[in-house]
Amino acid sequence: MKTVMVASTKGGTAKTTSVLALAALWAMEHQRRVALWDGDPQGTLTRQLRRNVVRDPWTADPVPAGVPELEERAVLFRGGRSLGLAPAAEIRQFFGRPDWEPRLNADLAIIDTPPGGLLHILAAADVADLLLVPVDTTPLGLEGLLETLDLLKVIEPAVPTRVLLTRVVVRRRITREISEFLDARYPGLRLETGIPEDARVPDSHKARRPVPLDAPRERASEGYRVVAAQLLDVLAGLRRMERAVNAEALAARVSA
Ligand SMILES: Nc1ncnc2c1ncn2[C@@H]1O[C@H](COP(=O)(O)OP(=O)(O)O)[C@@H](O)[C@H]1O
Ligand SMILES: [Mg+2]
Repeated sequence: MKTVMVASTKGGTAKTTSVLALAALWAMEHQRRVALWDGDPQGTLTRQLRRNVVRDPWTADPVPAGVPELEERAVLFRGGRSLGLAPAAEIRQFFGRPDWEPRLNADLAIIDTPPGGLLHILAAADVADLLLVPVDTTPLGLEGLLETLDLLKVIEPAVPTRVLLTRVVVRRRITREISEFLDARYPGLRLETGIPEDARVPDSHKARRPVPLDAPRERASEGYRVVAAQLLDVLAGLRRMERAVNAEALAARVSA
């Protein structure tokens, strides 16, 4: 099982939207079995998959996703408020539990994380094969991205990472600025295909159906379709490695 963590310290970058879209595409168009983890105390992913949040996400068993097309191939670890009180070690242990893999029989796992989720991002050292950092193409989006990339430097060796531009409006200057900045400073990090701003995305949330199921031919869905296939290629080439959080580097950043 390969694990993708979707994380950024900033809220509203389309993390949950991306988790839903990618999981749906992997399940429906690539016939993969997918485990989704809702790591956000708000439980947005859980509700979007038509399930209720749980009192104790640490002990609740995973359940089939509640969207009919996904029932057979997607299981969900439900979120709940108490995730907000979790110490780092608990998060790491939970995501890294050795019995999940044989029990789940999933090809891929995808973890949704809360904004500001420093503990989750650090847990990536133990559990993620790949980190996907969505960035909304706004000036604040760039700021959030830089903060996230800086925090990731405390994990050694680095977790393989890709940046996904979301809510892209091509004619906006900030879109070009973010792309150019990334390509100059972090070559290879940015996925070439971004996700366009698309009114069908909020519509899909209202319908509680991942956007590629709700509006398969719309622009956002086409973008996620390309990205889903690309990420499978990236994952195929990755090997899990021992990683660790450099405590000194972390302390320097937290106190800064
Ligand atoms: N491609 C898009 N086009 C238009 N709106 C989007 C798009 N992606 C996300 N959104 C909207 O942005 C908001 C934040 O998305 P969400 O996935 O909840 O972000 P996060 O999980 O990072 O907080 C939601 O209201 C969602 O509908
Ligand atoms: Mg979210």
